[in-house]
Amino acid sequence: MRICVIGAGYVGLVSAVCFAEMGNRVVCVERDPFRVARLSRGEVPIYEPGLDVSLKAQIANDQLSFSSDLAVGINQAQIIFIAVGTPSGEDGSADLSHVLAVADELGERLDHDCLVVNKSTVPVGTGEQVARRINTALARRQQRARVVLASNPEFLKEGSAVEDFMRPDRVIVGCDEEYGQQLLKRLYAPFLRNHDRLLCMGLRAAEFSKYAANAFLATKISFINEMAGICARLGVDIEDVRRGIGSDKRIGTHFIYAGCGYGGSCFPKDVRALIRTAEHEGIEPGILRAVEARNALQKTLLFQAIREHFNGHLQGRVVALWGLAFKPGTDDLREAPSLVLLDALLNAGARVQACDPAAIDGVAKRYARAVEAGQLSLSDSPYTACQGADAVVLVTEWKQYRQPDFARIRGAMRMPVLFDGRNIYDASQLAEQGFLYRGIGRPVVGSCKASAA
Ligand SMILES: NC(=O)c1ccc[n+]([C@@H]2O[C@H](COP(=O)([O-])OP(=O)(O)OC[C@H]3O[C@@H](n4cnc5c(N)ncnc54)[C@H](O)[C@@H]3O)[C@@H](O)[C@H]2O)c1
Repeated sequence: MRICVIGAGYVGLVSAVCFAEMGNRVVCVERDPFRVARLSRGEVPIYEPGLDVSLKAQIANDQLSFSSDLAVGINQAQIIFIAVGTPSGEDGSADLSHVLAVADELGERLDHDCLVVNKSTVPVGTGEQVARRINTALARRQQRARVVLASNPEFLKEGSAVEDFMRPDRVIVGCDEEYGQQLLKRLYAPFLRNHDRLLCMGLRAAEFSKYAANAFLATKISFINEMAGICARLGVDIEDVRRGIGSDKRIGTHFIYAGCGYGGSCFPKDVRALIRTAEHEGIEPGILRAVEARNALQKTLLFQAIREHFNGHLQGRVVALWGLAFKPGTDDLREAPSLVLLDALLNAGARVQACDPAAIDGVAKRYARAVEAGQLSLSDSPYTACQGADAVVLVTEWKQYRQPDFARIRGAMRMPVLFDGRNIYDASQLAEQGFLYRGIGRPVVGSCKASAA
């Protein structure tokens, strides 16, 4: 099939590459000309495992190309995907300006029948709004092209996006017309050969399903974080409780890990947008508000624990911060818990030595002044970050931080104190190695003596 994907971000780029991999002819339209130039050379502007190899292969096979000209992208396209950003607006509702701008441009340029599919996460009714805008412009131009609207929310996870896209748990197709449903069924058939999990529903139900899914996952995280808070007071280890409840199939093991809060480009903004939708409809979204409030609190807990440990005096303390991206496997810093901690530490006068395998460039840009002033240093090595540190804080659980050489780390640090923001370490083993260990919702274990180093 001939496909156009509009937007070459995390979702658009992965979708374009994966559709091309299945033999479709794809043009990906991106408004940022620098991004288009890099992509056309086969350079991936984001960190996403496996994407670079596929990108280069599909460009070489002539299955995939990039353009900043919408007219080039939609030329002869049977299906046009909209995959542009829908960030939070000032009041927390979804900012639809990018999606609606694309709709207007499509209305001005389309000259043939096609299916327009919204992949961006958008509130219920947006698909209808996009269709109205396109059709009004077509009518004004006396253009008789027939455009059908569908919703196909995306469920890929950054860090495993290619794998998720190629082998999806399910594909949701929201379209009120049989034509759109059939076309998307054909397009997705090769991705669903092992298990047919394509769910067809109305346009509005598909739009809402995406918000409900993200809100539910965010709720699980905030729930376990609240349990962790109670555990901490009761001297109970939340990790025992997690294993205890996760073995119940009705609860399951996913998304019940206590930690320093969720971030990223989806959960925070989608929960906020759903709250605004509920308010708009006169529904009090009590659960969603609590989820958001708990998460905001959770992002501050590591700093509170660090400040308490140093009796409120952080001026001149050296803190090693492991992991900056909002989760492992990505360079995405949007709403990352690390940034809340970093701001608080820098404001309190601490010196921060941070590391991350993928996200240091983004942090260097954002914190250029602190870097210049020597208050923040960045590296890709957890060992460099620990040099002369008074504490180490694990914020993002990258694989390379799971089993480091703790003897080497202890030797490099001034004080062997470890704050585990993701509860990935064995507290008693660390205590045996001379660390004071503090997790989230876990008893404090060990004691610390200044290192000989
Ligand atoms: N990132 C994720 O993990 C994820 C997962 C599922 C769903 N989503 C949803 O998918 C949508 C896109 O998310 P993202 O993370 O890929 O966003 P992103 O910000 O990474 O990418 C959006 C891209 O669209 C481009 N763009 C904006 N307006 C354009 C226009 N008029 N023409 C061409 N290009 C344009 C931007 O320059 C940018 O490169 C959002 O609604 C998001 O909520 C994201």
